[in-house]
Amino acid sequence: MAAQIISGKLLAAEVKKRVAGEVEQLKAQGINPCLAVMLVGSDPASQVYVRGKQNDCAECGIESRLVRLDENATQAEVLEQLGRLAADESVHGVLVQLPLPAQIDEQAVIAAIPPEKDVDGFTPVNVGRMTIGQQCFLPCTPAGCIEMLKYAGVAIEGKRAVVVGRSNIVGKPAALLLLRENATVTVCHSRTRDLAHICAEADILVAAIGKAKFITGDMIKPGAAVIDVGINRSEDGKLCGDVDFAAASEKAAFITPVPGGVGLMTRAMLLCNTVQAARMAAGR
Ligand code: GUN
Repeated sequence: MAAQIISGKLLAAEVKKRVAGEVEQLKAQGINPCLAVMLVGSDPASQVYVRGKQNDCAECGIESRLVRLDENATQAEVLEQLGRLAADESVHGVLVQLPLPAQIDEQAVIAAIPPEKDVDGFTPVNVGRMTIGQQCFLPCTPAGCIEMLKYAGVAIEGKRAVVVGRSNIVGKPAALLLLRENATVTVCHSRTRDLAHICAEADILVAAIGKAKFITGDMIKPGAAVIDVGINRSEDGKLCGDVDFAAASEKAAFITPVPGGVGLMTRAMLLCNTVQAARMAAGR
């Protein structure tokens, strides 16, 4: 039987509707939620992502500000602009679009974002808080993955979850959030031996590798829930995930599509975090 598709489109629309209502309530109290996005250079994919974030904000009544810096910007210039956003009380959320040009120290820039405005959840303070289970901004993509599982009614507790990929922005935090939901979590990566065998034991499989159709049908446990974080171009130029969707949906019970899956939820969770930042700044 073909898998049930977990639609990022439907769930993101629900989340955005809720966010728009919350924004309206905050505005009635004189609070105007505002997200600042810093874009350094002209990476085409980053430009598309940033435009998407701005459109999402507009749709929900959130003000967005774009700070653009040249491809050749120095570390000092980036930090100076960040300092301004940090000090600006009308800005509630600050996001630096990654990747940054090679001359910029990414970790130093992330660490300069005030934790209370860190709507990506990337600063060491928020990563630490998440790790020990404290209140914090959760990173948007892994938080979106958990929301999709819950939306589909997939129980996480006690399940065997396998995360493929160990990046700071997806793989590692996804593993921590699954653990927090009481899954038994395995993290696989490029050096993992017997990857296919480990994946085939997963009740919940999160694919965050960045390689088109890397996860093949034989790597899916019958009845599994498959969350595909990848956004790649296949040989025919079409967008595809890290999972071979056609083959995987023959075996899985639940699967997220690409496009129309996790990517939309990442964007929706950013809006939730921005509203949370605005509320916190106002002491609500
Ligand atoms: N680049 C790719 N994904 C992300 C993300 O979630 N946040 C930021 N800031 N940059 C990214």
